[in-house]
Amino acid sequence: MANILIVSGHTNLDDSVANKEILYRLKELLPDLEFDLLSELYPDYKIDVEKEQEKLKKADIIVLQYPIFWYSMPSLLEKWMEEVFQHGFSHGTTGDKLKGKKLIISFTTGAPEEAYTKEGRMAYTIEDFLNPIKATCKQCQMVYYGAVKTYGVSYQIRQEKSKEIKEKALKHAKELAEMLKEIKNDQ
Ligand SMILES: Cc1cc2nc3c(=O)[nH]c(=O)nc-3n(C[C@H](O)[C@H](O)[C@H](O)COP(=O)(O)O)c2cc1C
Repeated sequence: MANILIVSGHTNLDDSVANKEILYRLKELLPDLEFDLLSELYPDYKIDVEKEQEKLKKADIIVLQYPIFWYSMPSLLEKWMEEVFQHGFSHGTTGDKLKGKKLIISFTTGAPEEAYTKEGRMAYTIEDFLNPIKATCKQCQMVYYGAVKTYGVSYQIRQEKSKEIKEKALKHAKELAEMLKEIKNDQ
């Protein structure tokens, strides 16, 4: 049985609609997942590197769940990666602890899908912004399995559109759960 670790990188889940709902629905859909809620474990941003490395070692599949902040990961998730993915652990000549593990990224954006084109408001496609993660996978000998994306769930519309956001989050969780089942069946 594959071990699946969901790392939640939202900086404040109390103030989230989309990511909170995705995590909640995912737990309902696949009860054996392990959840690593960084904002609850490390509200002070002081990451227990050894503990996090142990969780990663046990996992066969790692999912990074986060909202896009400034075209990238939120600061807490970025810090987690900077500290936990150490030379000699994840990369470098003797760093092979993540080798062969599958990585899925699962994220939400505020901007609508049509903004993420060369001609659109964001001036780049969403795939362009995923290149650093794909390069990280290569550097750490992980397998980049794919991304699950939900666009247009900005915090600015969370009051008046919370029902629509929750519906999108449920669809997102179902898509991610299907992807995880597919990998589990392949293993
Ligand atoms: C600091 C900050 C930066 C953001 N940067 C982006 C961005 O670069 N692109 C984008 O589409 N949305 C951006 N957003 C919108 C968030 O992605 C959106 O509010 C989030 O996905 C909603 O998820 P939540 O309800 O779980 O918080 C940003 C939001 C914040 C607070």
